[in-house]
Amino acid sequence: MAISGTTSGPELLVELDRTAPEPLHRQLANGLRDAIRTGRLAPATRLPSTRALAADLCVSRRLVVDAYSQLAAEGFLLSTHGSGTRVATVDTASAPERDAAEPVKPFDIDFAPGSPDLGSFPRHAWLRALRQGLDEIESQAFGYVEPQGLYPARVAVADYLRRTRGVVADPRHIVLCSGATQAVALLASTLIGQMVAMEDPGFWLHRMVLRHNGIEPLPVPVDDGGLDIEALAASGATAVLATPAHQSPTGVVLSAARRTALLQWARADHLVIEDDYDAEYRYDRAPVGALQGIAPDRVVYVGSTSKTLAPGLRIGWMVLPAHLVGPITLAKGLADTGSSVMDQIAFAKLLTSGGYDRHLRQMRRRYLARRNALLQALTRHLPEATVLGTAAGVHLTVRFPEGFPVAELVHRAAGMRVRIEPVAPCYAEPTSAPPGLMLGYANLSESQIVAGVQALARAAGCLSAANGPARRATTTMSGISRSPH
Ligand SMILES: Cc1ncc(COP(=O)(O)O)c(C=O)c1O
Repeated sequence: MAISGTTSGPELLVELDRTAPEPLHRQLANGLRDAIRTGRLAPATRLPSTRALAADLCVSRRLVVDAYSQLAAEGFLLSTHGSGTRVATVDTASAPERDAAEPVKPFDIDFAPGSPDLGSFPRHAWLRALRQGLDEIESQAFGYVEPQGLYPARVAVADYLRRTRGVVADPRHIVLCSGATQAVALLASTLIGQMVAMEDPGFWLHRMVLRHNGIEPLPVPVDDGGLDIEALAASGATAVLATPAHQSPTGVVLSAARRTALLQWARADHLVIEDDYDAEYRYDRAPVGALQGIAPDRVVYVGSTSKTLAPGLRIGWMVLPAHLVGPITLAKGLADTGSSVMDQIAFAKLLTSGGYDRHLRQMRRRYLARRNALLQALTRHLPEATVLGTAAGVHLTVRFPEGFPVAELVHRAAGMRVRIEPVAPCYAEPTSAPPGLMLGYANLSESQIVAGVQALARAAGCLSAANGPARRATTTMSGISRSPH
């Protein structure tokens, strides 16, 4: 274990234990958070530059950038162009050092992106499905078998994906796993040594998962039409992780021309990892089918129940080209010998009984109403925010005019017990990201959404009073909608 201080800036005394299972970026973020919470790092203290801290701790600069971005997203740090990163004012008296077992006190209104309506988890339908599934299954299924997943569960998933997403789904090519996150980790283990590209901006967690598994993803830009395929081709990558149906975080849909170009790129012996994380929710028209349905030998299809049922379930799947089935099954077996059989049994029954479809129909209506409430509230109370992307998913991304102090807004909102997340951590270079937020709306009632946006407007009003009037946004992406559908 090494205790590291810094040669520049304040003495940080961050403990990094290279033998601990916890990743170093998390250790660093935890160490800094604790130092701020306990007052060891006082408000307004300037932190060392990411480069200096990385050098002092003998870690990569990227790791420090990730830790700083995480803490900025949580409101503990303020990053401003030109004046570096400073400790935000946090109420240490009301935020005493937490016991690890003590749950985090939730915000009153939590716009964190990525969550479905947790209160609507179909508890009864799930219990019924588990009971029926258990009645029907042989005891043999409870043993150490099939890291790929129970065959009947794979058949149920294959039927569902064929029917709803146009996936070419052979149950023998499916591996059930612990969410899309494990899918990315397992795929990474088979891609070591290759150049792997990823959308920029893209899902920050997947970028970290790739890095944690020894892959530094090549950032490929995203614009109105989605992933820039010319830039992808020029990057020299042999595989790409992408979200074509609803780009994360911008919400744009990959244009028809780009889909064709991406498939053409894939056919030249390249691999596309299609993260179809929230394609169940498209509110303005029928969703575009999965890319995998057109090139199943060049596309890995990835999906999960995190946006449809609950992230806590940790149920996900991959539909793999034939050559990857063996390596990924092996990797899954070595990672955890297979996902929980009980969950597979219940989920399979929920799918085959029609309970899953029923739940999704209900949720789609609810989320559309919530999305509309958010759009209306933004138009009315926060006109400096421009909404990006298509009417889909469980979050929307807004962009502010250049120079808008997002980190400060996050901090002030946290003071009002409203949680918002900046979009900056989704960028390969978070410090040069355009100012914006990702707003999750699915886990909030319409009245919470309106109250939350009103609070944000008050917080933004304080900022513009301090910084001069904010200009209206000028950057747009196609499909931007300011009016409810
Ligand atoms: C882009 C993206 N992919 C996948 C997921 C789901 O990951 P998991 O299935 O591991 O919960 C999320 C969740 O927020 C996401 O934003």
